[in-house]
Parts: sequence; structure tokens; C-alpha cells
Amino acid sequence: MQNRWELRKFVAPEFLFGVGAIDMSGQYAKNLGAQKVLLVTDPGVEAAGWVRQVTDSLNRLSIPYVIFTGVTENPKMQEVRAGARLYATAGCNMIIAVGGGSPMDCAKGIGIEVSHQRGIEEFEGVDLVEYPIPPLVCVPTTAGSSADVSQFAIIADTERKTKMAIVSKAVVPDAALIDPQTLTTLSPHQVACTGMDALTHAIEAYVSTANSPITDLHALEAIRLIAAHLPGAVANPQSIDHQGPMMLASLEAGLAFSNAILGAVHAMAHSLGGYFDLPHGECNAILLPGVVEFNYSACPQRFDQVAAAMGIAVEQVPAAERTAKLVGRIATLRSSVGIGDNVRRFGVEKSDVARLAGFALQDACMATNPKLMQRSDVEAIYAAII
Ligand SMILES: [Fe+2]
Repeated sequence: MQNRWELRKFVAPEFLFGVGAIDMSGQYAKNLGAQKVLLVTDPGVEAAGWVRQVTDSLNRLSIPYVIFTGVTENPKMQEVRAGARLYATAGCNMIIAVGGGSPMDCAKGIGIEVSHQRGIEEFEGVDLVEYPIPPLVCVPTTAGSSADVSQFAIIADTERKTKMAIVSKAVVPDAALIDPQTLTTLSPHQVACTGMDALTHAIEAYVSTANSPITDLHALEAIRLIAAHLPGAVANPQSIDHQGPMMLASLEAGLAFSNAILGAVHAMAHSLGGYFDLPHGECNAILLPGVVEFNYSACPQRFDQVAAAMGIAVEQVPAAERTAKLVGRIATLRSSVGIGDNVRRFGVEKSDVARLAGFALQDACMATNPKLMQRSDVEAIYAAII
């Protein structure tokens, strides 16, 4: 692990957290000089009524907008291109994203394309975005991706059949309007998948080689909140008593991972989800125990803190049994929210392992994994879930 006092930067957008935040969309658009807003969302979020709540807020201040709903679960290059075209033809000058990670990441991609007039695929990697994107406000409707506070945008490259991680301060939104009410229309499975994504963000950020005292604080609190509230939120998505803490956990996990970056779970989930077009949170949930087991020896004290935050009385567990105890705790939480332990039902086969490992090893998130992974290590973890 690195020197505790190594230089670290912490970037976060302005955010408004609490019930009613979504109704401030119009005011934030006005403050940012909106003349016409491109509203990026997807059909499910629109059907749930959250887009209407944003447009009501824009209408109250007479701010014109055009709605782009052409975003699918893993936002794709062509969707970014279509959104950028609409932005230009409609004469927009700012973007509001309403939804989960997909609309928010797509909105970031649209912002990059319209400010550079170049394809999104040219920006894969760290710090390759040259110019500021148009003003961007994000209204998250899941407690998972944290794209509303992060410097990440994940876009699927349908030609190479993988996902591109774009990491840049330029894609940190100008403002995030984080309203826990928006979680109450999610299905139990959506709550489970996005919640396990947030847990993965927090754990990977906490053990990342780029961790820092500030990211640690947020990561541990996120882990504690998710372990305590995810099962309740899945059992009863309408409960603000569980969804409030889950939204807070997602925010804290986002602040942590946006600055400490992630690790092998995300690198491997990007490859897997990109190739087979699978739900991101579910991929993470399935991969997480295997990667934690592999990484444990690199920073046992940090993983013991993770275990403690998940409710394990670590000091009473012999050192030799701690890895298994933590891995078991994560697997139990995962199964308690209805997520399985393998990807066979998605049609993934052992013969896919080599290709998946190749993409995972190139992913930007692999660089901050606490333990160096060889190709054989990545392949073994994939093989165990197929
Ligand atoms: Fe994630």
C-alpha cells in the first residue's frame, strides 16, 4: 500500500441531496444559462414519471427542452452519436440526464462529442478529454452507478464488443440533484443489482492503490449502509427508510470511487457486460467474491475493515479464516437479494474466457487493483463463474 501522505486530489460536483431535489432541475438549468436543454433519459424512467417531474420544473421557468430517450441498458456508441446529432439540430446548449448510469453515461458521451466534434471512441482511457463539455446536470434514479458525481463514463463499443472506460474530470457534472424518492419506482431486481454495484464501488475504492483518507471515509460508510439496508430496500422498494440510506450510500460510494478509482471487479465486469450486453450491477455482484478472495492477501487489514463495516466481528475470527468469512458474507448478501453466483444463464461459455480476459486486462480500472493480476488469474476467476 502507498504512503498515507502521498498527494491526492478529491473532485466532486455541487450536489443537492434530499427529497425534492429533482424539482430544482429548472432552477439549476437557469443558473447554468440554459437556452435549450437536451434531456437524456430512457423509456423506463420516462414511464416511471421522473422525466415529467423534471419537465414540469423546466416549464415553470419557461426553459425549452427536447427529450432524447434512445438509451439502452449499456449505452452504445451509436446512441451517443444520435444524442449528439439531436443536441446540434435542436440547438441545445446544456444537458440534463435523468436516470440510472446508462442515461447519465450517455449524456456525458454526448457532451464529449458535441464539444470535440469527434467520435467518443477517441476518448477511451484516462484524461483524454481536451475541452469542457456543455453544462451537465444529473438526476440519478438508481442507487448504483453514481455517474452523477463521478469522473467516469462507460460506453459500449459495439464493434469491438467491449466497454470503454472514459475517465476525466471533464465529465464530472456541474450539479447532481439526488432525490431518494426516485428509487421508490424501481423493481426489486433493479434495487438489488444497482445496490451491489454501489457495494462494489465502495469496496474497490477502499482497497484501491489510489485510496486516500477522504475516500476511505466515504467508502467505509457506504459499505456499512449497504450491508444494513440493501435487503430491506429490495424487499420493499417503496420504503424511503431503506431507500434514503441506499441513496446516501450510493453518493458516498461514488465520491470514493470517482477519486480512488476501481479495480479488477469493474475491469472484468466491463469486459463481460460489454461482450454479452449484460446488466452491469449483476456482473459485478457475480464477480465480487472471487476478486475479493484473490485480492485479500494484498491488504488484509483493509479487507478486515470492509468485513467489520459489513457487520463481522473480525477480532473474533482467526486470521486464517478471515478471507473466507468476508467472501461468505458478500455471497450471502448477494443471494439474499436474489442474485446468482454464475453467468451460465446468459449463455457465457468456457470458450469465451480467453477473449474476456484480454479485454479485462486492458481496462483502465485494472491499474488500481491492489494485487497485480496475471492473465491466468483473470481467466481462473472468470472460469469459476461460468
Ligand atoms: Fe459500477
